[in-house]
Amino acid sequence: MTSIPEFFKNQSVLVTGGTGFLGKALLEKLLRSCPDVGIIYVLMRKKKGKELTQRVRDITDMPLFDVLKRANPENLKKIVPLLGDCKQLGLGLSPTDRQLIKEKVSIVFHCAATIRFDDTLKNSIILNVRSTREVMILARNMKELKVVVHVSTIFSNCNRKVTDEVFYPTTIDWKEMIDVVENIDDSTIDILTPKIIGTFPNTYVYSKSLAEKVVKDLGVNLPTVIVRPSMVFTSLSDPFPGWADSWGGPVAISVGVAKGIIRNCNADRNAVMDIIPVDTVTKIICSAAHEKALCGDRMEPSVYNACSYSLKKLTWGSYTEICLKILEENPLDDILWIPGITFIKNDLLFWLMSILFQVLPSAVLHGILKLKGTKSPLLYFQRKGYIGALGVKYFNGQSWEFKNKNVQELRKNLLPADRKEFDLDDFESVNFKQYFSDAYKGIRLYLMKQPACTTPDGWTHFRRMYWLNIIVNGAVAGLFLWTVLHSRLAQNLLPSA
Ligand SMILES: NC(=O)c1ccc[n+]([C@@H]2O[C@H](COP(=O)([O-])OP(=O)(O)OC[C@H]3O[C@@H](n4cnc5c(N)ncnc54)[C@H](OP(=O)(O)O)[C@@H]3O)[C@@H](O)[C@H]2O)c1
Repeated sequence: MTSIPEFFKNQSVLVTGGTGFLGKALLEKLLRSCPDVGIIYVLMRKKKGKELTQRVRDITDMPLFDVLKRANPENLKKIVPLLGDCKQLGLGLSPTDRQLIKEKVSIVFHCAATIRFDDTLKNSIILNVRSTREVMILARNMKELKVVVHVSTIFSNCNRKVTDEVFYPTTIDWKEMIDVVENIDDSTIDILTPKIIGTFPNTYVYSKSLAEKVVKDLGVNLPTVIVRPSMVFTSLSDPFPGWADSWGGPVAISVGVAKGIIRNCNADRNAVMDIIPVDTVTKIICSAAHEKALCGDRMEPSVYNACSYSLKKLTWGSYTEICLKILEENPLDDILWIPGITFIKNDLLFWLMSILFQVLPSAVLHGILKLKGTKSPLLYFQRKGYIGALGVKYFNGQSWEFKNKNVQELRKNLLPADRKEFDLDDFESVNFKQYFSDAYKGIRLYLMKQPACTTPDGWTHFRRMYWLNIIVNGAVAGLFLWTVLHSRLAQNLLPSA
């Protein structure tokens, strides 16, 4: 039986979304754990005026690639960018590059997507659905094709309480939906969006559900795989713990909590928080590609739910408790208040508490800073945080049952030779305190660009804030008590001296 690195040996690979959080981790994993992989063509667009070679350099200069650079720096040359745009027909590839792919590529990873929950329906359909169609059409024409992997999301069927590793019917034919967004004007589509997406909470998951159907329909007689990750979080161990490259998922809100500017959470503390480390996902993606290509089954795409469901359970409440403990031991240097969080399920109460304990204090501080001539993004953060909280309430206010038998099988079937690089054991036995502590340090280092641990000045500031918090809380409690005792009702009830 061929091991995973042997399977990738000399194979030309096409990756879309290779500049994103998951895509970069996948590139690194392939180049490091499958050292004899052939050329990896990465379809990318020009961004912010940067040439493609500069974009590749920006990626490989990241600390994510340090381990690879020490072990096998030559392999970085295997990343070959191809100019493209997934929003264009034919993926915006030149005829020459298209021909090159058709002749050479044998393994495809389609990761590119818009992951914005608030993106327009048109954009989401064009990017997430139509580009999947274009990838599948291209794959059908590849002479050497061994496998196509489409990255979906575990929430692509979130309008059902149970998601098994199977396909579910969609409410509309994806061909009709592409037709609609191609031919109807933007404002009409915007008006119709709530009606079209129906029971789905946003355009992102809706479009991802249709994209799965594209893969099913166009994947007939092709070796095709769908991997559905849950919330992709920082790396657990591979190539090192705590690699962070995305403000998505719970990251931005958690940083707001760490700074002390977000104090209310509208999640259900008992709801399951299904996160999966980015390195666990890349292992599943590579093993699933290997398994599908070698088993020879072309009847129907295989589906893998890359989630923590039966590997490791966590709730939003326990996540918060662990994080608050970590923040006590290693606070941010520039906190605005001592971190704390209250779970509030009621929307009205959440709004009220957000105004009282987040917006008003931020407005006061914003005013003070403005008087001192300093610009402050505090009110902007509050606005973004509030809108973000409403957008994710659907996902952190309830639990789903995600079955992942196929992933379990994948683990069981791993060859001994693949266990070191592709096993998922470390996630099953993860110590969440350690994992989130590494994650937090990684977020500080790689996203916030500040030291991973509190500096002496940071500790001095923290102690000041600690006492200020006690004084303010004491003063508020005292004022409240005084007001109650001096109220007319108290005067009437208390015996006169
Ligand atoms: N992150 C999660 O928690 C999560 C969870 C479940 C599933 N997923 C799935 O995982 C995949 C990767 O997500 P991610 O977190 O890595 O997202 P990401 O960081 O936002 O990356 C998105 C990628 O898509 C590319 N892209 C966007 N528009 C494009 C276009 N018009 N043409 C070419 N490329 C384009 C981006 O390229 P640029 O650099 O040029 O923008 C980037 O490489 C997606 O399919 C997503 O649905 C993610």
